Amino acid sequence: MAEPEQLVVEAQRQAAAATTLDELSKVRTTVSGKRSPLVAARKALGGLDPEARREAGQALNAAKSAIDEVLASREAELAAAARAEKLAAERLDLTEVTEQPANGHLHVITQTWQELEDVFVGMGYRVAEGPEIESEWYNFGALNFPLGHPARDMYDTLYVDYGEPGSTLLRTHTSPVQARVMENQKPPIYVVAPGRCFRQDTADATHMPVFHQIEGLVVDRDTTLGDLAGTIEAFTAAYFGPGFTSRLRPSYFPFTEPSAEFDIQRPDGTWLELGGCGMVHPNVLKACGIDPEQWQGFAFGFGIDRLALIRFGIDDLRELWTNDVRFLEQF
Ligand code: PHE
Repeated sequence: MAEPEQLVVEAQRQAAAATTLDELSKVRTTVSGKRSPLVAARKALGGLDPEARREAGQALNAAKSAIDEVLASREAELAAAARAEKLAAERLDLTEVTEQPANGHLHVITQTWQELEDVFVGMGYRVAEGPEIESEWYNFGALNFPLGHPARDMYDTLYVDYGEPGSTLLRTHTSPVQARVMENQKPPIYVVAPGRCFRQDTADATHMPVFHQIEGLVVDRDTTLGDLAGTIEAFTAAYFGPGFTSRLRPSYFPFTEPSAEFDIQRPDGTWLELGGCGMVHPNVLKACGIDPEQWQGFAFGFGIDRLALIRFGIDDLRELWTNDVRFLEQF
């Protein structure tokens, strides 16, 4: 029968020779499993007399502990080595970015929209919003378009199949936001309202059935047509830059009196028609609960999309809606 110390030495030798956890597990079976010399020696204890059995039993127990320890410490070594190897294999080098990720940017219309807001906010205006699906009242009624008035036909209105026929529509301009703001705020009022509008129109290079406008509304004491002209001029200089000027031409809108179209003159002398404007009609102030004897106002509205075209030198409105990234990336 092998000496207990020998069993320990043998276990040490085999454990040290194991280079993987699998190999070590086989060593464990060999040195301490059911068929190991250690277990055989224990079984043989039964044949000894009590005194000798006690002594040999203690020696075997000590050997068993020593062998367990040898196996445990070799296992820890091999496990640590295996983990280190796995980490090395899975290591990701995050410091080595060879290609810059592509950065997106805002759409041409959004950029223009935000620049316009910035210019007006810089002039002391606040930004207001209204719904795109609007009632007949805000889009027309409150704006002094009586029912059946021919001016309603100027707007190729898209009606929504909701409520009474003709009662609900896709707003044809941002002017209904004027009425909503006046109903909800006490003057003095200085707001701009950018947003999406809709008209029955066939898409071509200069028209889209969906488009964007920005509305301006001022209601204050002693507001005059001179203030309106000065505001348009200040906006023109601020947005387009030096060399650009503006002019007003008489026009007609039911919700302003007098009404005008405003044009921008480019440095090369050519004119560009931008939008409509005028002094808020007293009937509109009244419809929104504001006393026209005490307050006067002016309003203006113009398209954002065509401004974007000019700004970025694009010649077809439809390009702004196709959303081909290869095209939009250029701006
Ligand atoms: N809402 C008018 C349009 O879309 C423009 C406008 C706005 C005119 C404000 C006067 C005052 O045609």
